[in-house]
Amino acid sequence: MSSANPLMPQQATILDITEETPDIKTLRVVGKDGLPFDFMPGQCAMLSVPPVGEAIFSITSSPTCRECLEFSIKNVGNVSNALHCLVPGQQIGIRGPYGNGFPVDQMKGKDLLFIGGGIGLAPLRSLISYCFAHREDYGHIDIVYGARSPADLIRKSEVRESWAEQPDTSVYLTVDAEFPDWDGHVGFVPTYVSELAFKPEGKIAITCGPPIMIKFVLQALDKLGFSADQVITTLEMRMKCGVGKCGRCNLGSVYVCKDGPVFSLEELNALPAEY
Ligand SMILES: Cc1cc2nc3c(=O)[nH]c(=O)nc-3n(C[C@H](O)[C@H](O)[C@H](O)COP(=O)(O)OP(=O)(O)OC[C@H]3O[C@@H](n4cnc5c(N)ncnc54)[C@H](O)[C@@H]3O)c2cc1C
Ligand code: FES
Repeated sequence: MSSANPLMPQQATILDITEETPDIKTLRVVGKDGLPFDFMPGQCAMLSVPPVGEAIFSITSSPTCRECLEFSIKNVGNVSNALHCLVPGQQIGIRGPYGNGFPVDQMKGKDLLFIGGGIGLAPLRSLISYCFAHREDYGHIDIVYGARSPADLIRKSEVRESWAEQPDTSVYLTVDAEFPDWDGHVGFVPTYVSELAFKPEGKIAITCGPPIMIKFVLQALDKLGFSADQVITTLEMRMKCGVGKCGRCNLGSVYVCKDGPVFSLEELNALPAEY
């Protein structure tokens, strides 16, 4: 971490903004001297817009991208709305990186099954891009990604073109219902995962998305024979400090901001059932 006080935001500048969906924008930001800090896939940062406040967001770019940090932000409340109102050239506060990140070393040598829903692609994108940049370390990659409608899929061209063309990689997109401009798969993500009947041997499944999707994806993976140590997910608790001090995000003795947000299902099964 480059700043001495982990709670003190640095200034960062918005380089550009992409409108991904009607309510999600991707912001590319850069610090005073390049990247504000080094990080690993799955880690997060607190973004602040004075005087509105700050909120935590996953870093969606890969650590292998040295130009800037990227955040895909859904407009749901005060801070995210303030971030949506910014324009390139304006400044925000940033502090981090926070959280444990995905276990990229433990995943080496395995086939990987990524399962994302909606804005849940944000942390997965950092990890998927990282795995592509270290392609020889990982086996076959399957990516299942879905959203309510075609308009709600983020990073559409990257997922369809760049990811689908990577070696030894299969991409499966789905939307919840029929739409006139959609000729792809229709159905919920967990159902699609069951239909695709992935074999668990030698595989790690990593899933991020709305809690209801994760609940049913975990059930689908269980039915397919995945054991709890083969499944990794992320928890979205409400957070304030991000560094294990304020007690806002704890589950028993575990602080989601510090010990998570990435957990194996085996670790989650050992936590109090409050999440
Ligand atoms: C580890 C982690 C990673 C995340 N990554 C991303 C990401 O990459 N992209 C993204 O868009 N979001 C992400 N989030 C979610 C984001 O932090 C929240 O949506 C955050 O609340 C947005 O702040 P806000 O000020 O815009 O919304 P708020 O004003 O906080 O409101 C957000 C929603 O929560 C409700 N709410 C407000 N206060 C409370 C409360 N005390 N209890 C219950 N509900 C309340 C509001 O009614 C509203 O519906 C992540 C969260 C975590 C924990
Ligand atoms: S957000 Fe403060 S302890 Fe986790």
